[in-house]
Amino acid sequence: MIRLTIDGEPIEVQEGRTLLEACREHDIPIPTLCYHPALKPYGACRLCVVELDHPSGSSKLVASCVHPCEEGAVVRTNSEAVKRNRRVTAELLLAGAFDAPEIVALAKGLGVEEPRFRMEESESCVLCGLCVRACDEIVGVRAISLIHRGMAKKVATPFEISSATCIGCGTCVLICPTGRLKLSDVTGYRGVHPWDNTFHRLYCRVCDDEDLRETRLQEATDLIADMEASE
Ligand code: FES
Repeated sequence: MIRLTIDGEPIEVQEGRTLLEACREHDIPIPTLCYHPALKPYGACRLCVVELDHPSGSSKLVASCVHPCEEGAVVRTNSEAVKRNRRVTAELLLAGAFDAPEIVALAKGLGVEEPRFRMEESESCVLCGLCVRACDEIVGVRAISLIHRGMAKKVATPFEISSATCIGCGTCVLICPTGRLKLSDVTGYRGVHPWDNTFHRLYCRVCDDEDLRETRLQEATDLIADMEASE
């Protein structure tokens, strides 16, 4: 076990835990955006910063979702420096995604109602990378990635053309925190936007055949009845 102090309280956590995991295990609230428990930590949004005190008297801000717990560490999750830093981060997110309800709520929770600056048009995408990582780590397809650098950085399919590997599962859409990604389902087709990938939908042979579905349902019902009768 690792012993450390968070907000003045001594706590113990298993080795290998990040500071964020330690805080969550002890009900200490930390805002996050690019973190998802089903994905590897990424450390992109910096909303989860906490202040780490050094024995020399200095301190530094670290992203708690990627920083491991260390023996004897002294951590502050709500210091002035932490709050200020999170507010600036929230302001920057809000400036680019001012019409995304989740970002608006997140910023409000950190005390930011109106950013001091704002992009002319809402980008909606905050480059949290959740969609890219989910496509890779959960679906195992890697149909999208972060391309370009600086202001031009964005999520896109390779060569920004319809992806040959995307299976239209919609995982990226479900995990997107800003609602930028959308699915359209029209009979027989599914579209993933804004990449304009359109797929012929493959239907399940059982679910889409009414007779077969009834037969399978009856078989399952009979099986359950047999099991109950033999108990
Ligand atoms: S949640 Fe830790 S950097 Fe985004």
